[in-house]
Amino acid sequence: MAPRSTSRPDLCAVLFLFVLGHQTLAQIVNLEVKDGNSTCIKAELSAQIAVVYSVTNGTRTASMPLPASTTVGSDSSCGGSSGTPWLMASFGDGHSLSLGFSSNGSLYRVENITVVYNLSDTSNFPASSSKDRVTVMTAHTGILARMNTTYKCESNSTVILSGGGVNVSFSNMRIEAYMLGSEFSVNETVCTADQTATTTSVPKTSAVTTPPTPTVPGTPEQGKYNVTNSNGSVCLLAYMGLQLNITLSSSQNKTVQEIINLQPNLTKSTGLCEVNSSTLFLTSDRTNLTFFFSLNVTKYHLSGISVRAILPDMKDPFATSNVSLDYLRGTLGRSYMCNAEQTLLVDKSFSLNTFHVQVQPFRVNGGQFENAEDCHLDEDNMLIPIIVGAALAGLVLIVLIAYLIGRKRSHAGYQTI
Ligand SMILES: *[C@@H]1O[C@H](CO)[C@@H](O)[C@H](O)[C@H]1NC(C)=O
Ligand SMILES: *[C@@H]1O[C@H](CO)[C@@H](O)[C@H](O)[C@H]1NC(C)=O
Ligand SMILES: *[C@@H]1O[C@H](CO)[C@@H](O)[C@H](O)[C@H]1NC(C)=O
Ligand SMILES: *[C@@H]1O[C@H](CO)[C@@H](O)[C@H](O)[C@H]1NC(C)=O
Ligand SMILES: *[C@@H]1O[C@H](CO)[C@@H](O)[C@H](O)[C@H]1NC(C)=O
Ligand SMILES: *[C@@H]1O[C@H](CO)[C@@H](O)[C@H](O)[C@H]1NC(C)=O
Ligand SMILES: *[C@@H]1O[C@H](CO)[C@@H](O)[C@H](O)[C@H]1NC(C)=O
Ligand SMILES: *[C@@H]1O[C@H](CO)[C@@H](O)[C@H](O)[C@H]1NC(C)=O
Ligand SMILES: *[C@@H]1O[C@H](CO)[C@@H](O)[C@H](O)[C@H]1NC(C)=O
Ligand SMILES: *[C@@H]1O[C@H](CO)[C@@H](O)[C@H](O)[C@H]1NC(C)=O
Ligand SMILES: *[C@@H]1O[C@H](CO)[C@@H](O)[C@H](O)[C@H]1NC(C)=O
Ligand SMILES: *[C@@H]1O[C@H](CO)[C@@H](O)[C@H](O)[C@H]1NC(C)=O
Repeated sequence: MAPRSTSRPDLCAVLFLFVLGHQTLAQIVNLEVKDGNSTCIKAELSAQIAVVYSVTNGTRTASMPLPASTTVGSDSSCGGSSGTPWLMASFGDGHSLSLGFSSNGSLYRVENITVVYNLSDTSNFPASSSKDRVTVMTAHTGILARMNTTYKCESNSTVILSGGGVNVSFSNMRIEAYMLGSEFSVNETVCTADQTATTTSVPKTSAVTTPPTPTVPGTPEQGKYNVTNSNGSVCLLAYMGLQLNITLSSSQNKTVQEIINLQPNLTKSTGLCEVNSSTLFLTSDRTNLTFFFSLNVTKYHLSGISVRAILPDMKDPFATSNVSLDYLRGTLGRSYMCNAEQTLLVDKSFSLNTFHVQVQPFRVNGGQFENAEDCHLDEDNMLIPIIVGAALAGLVLIVLIAYLIGRKRSHAGYQTI
């Protein structure tokens, strides 16, 4: 009895490992989009697509790696004179993963990612209650590179589509669009995750002697940043005071904290304005900050922050990013305003403190902010003076009534005497 009961978990473990191995072993696939003889997009990547789908008694998750048999789909195009480059990777029984590119002349980016999955494919979606073909997309990808360079990202990066129902995890990625030749450019734009992975942000030994509590440099000055589009008009406005809060833990169990105020007069703003997304780069000698804004029909929000900073105590730059954030929510045609201090948590090592914020990341007209929507923090702050004022008015009224009653009584008293 005993030997049988121990052999079963072994078998389960073997089966489990087999299934796990089968699912995570994403192949590196090579794809190329051409217009006549000239190549415009080239990609070499592994991708794993996870889809949550419905079965009769609940939901299941299907995990589909891009197989070696992936082909360049018929919707792919170099964009011609007016359109935009589009890479469609077709695989399996009617599934596809597509990347749409855009550029402003000095940078290019993956503007959006679309996944089409076919629920009637029973090998990937067993017992699915629907047989439909489903299309989901995201306008926020975090894939951005300098023109005439190859975007390189070996790290695993996950893009979430359609409110979390579909995830695409890329790894070992090399991609280039708007190509000049038929080979990848030698010059590369390395993704932030790879930069973090190689530097791993461990302070060098001298950092151990610095006190763990930093001198906090006071409230940062408000910077007035803007982005202009190709025809020279302002398309994004961001007025804000910014303070970086970097927390590093060294192997010696010490945490080192750096609080850095961004100095507006030493910071340059550039960026990109697209239909459904916009990007603000704030560059200075020691810090580079990127803000990604997303627009969904009429609502916008800050969906990603990426940072790279040179710290005095460290030999390697600190870098991190998070592209699934949801801060500074506003409505199209209005600006977002928050005078109160806010802390935007990016990850456990980095947060951004903001002061006196007014932003309008989409459709700025005539270089000016439109009507502001106040954050709830400001409304809360407004509430205190209102309550105090009301209380004071009430007190004055009570004193006045008491005085009048008192006067009437004493008056009456005199009359009876
Ligand atoms: C493509 O290249 C081939 C051979 O190099 C050449 O014969 C052909 O004319 C080229 N086609 C175009 C559209 O340039
Ligand atoms: C749904 O049904 C399948 C097979 O009928 C079963 O294996 C699974 O445990 C069920 N799931 C739930 C959540 O009841
Ligand atoms: C996706 O991006 C491409 C390239 O910029 C653009 O042409 C297309 O309109 C975008 N699609 C959506 C639905 O935003
Ligand atoms: C990319 O290369 C082309 C051709 O050499 C050049 O015209 C263009 O200015 C370059 N773009 C950038 C941003 O370097
Ligand atoms: C990549 O990340 C996704 C989501 O975090 C995870 O499910 C997957 O196992 C990771 N793949 C590798 C190779 O680390
Ligand atoms: C790489 O970039 C440098 C600096 O931007 C430039 O001078 C050089 O020509 C580029 N090399 C190639 C092969 O494009
Ligand atoms: C910086 O971040 C740390 C850890 O999250 C927090 O304890 C500390 O209060 C923050 N400091 C400032 C000035 O925001
Ligand atoms: C680090 O701190 C943990 C818990 O505070 C402790 O258990 C551990 O021994 C410490 N390690 C070193 C190297 O001091
Ligand atoms: C930038 O502003 C700070 C504080 O406002 C000031 O001390 C510094 O001199 C200014 N630097 C330059 C280059 O203008
Ligand atoms: C910031 O970006 C610029 C341009 O991409 C680069 O030259 C500079 O080294 C970067 N600074 C840091 C601290 O990474
Ligand atoms: C856009 O907003 C609608 C309504 O709030 C929501 O159902 C939808 O999932 C959102 N789309 C994206 C891509 O976030
Ligand atoms: C945009 O920024 C530039 C450079 O900082 C500045 O000269 C210009 O006045 C700004 N425009 C607006 C509308 O804020």
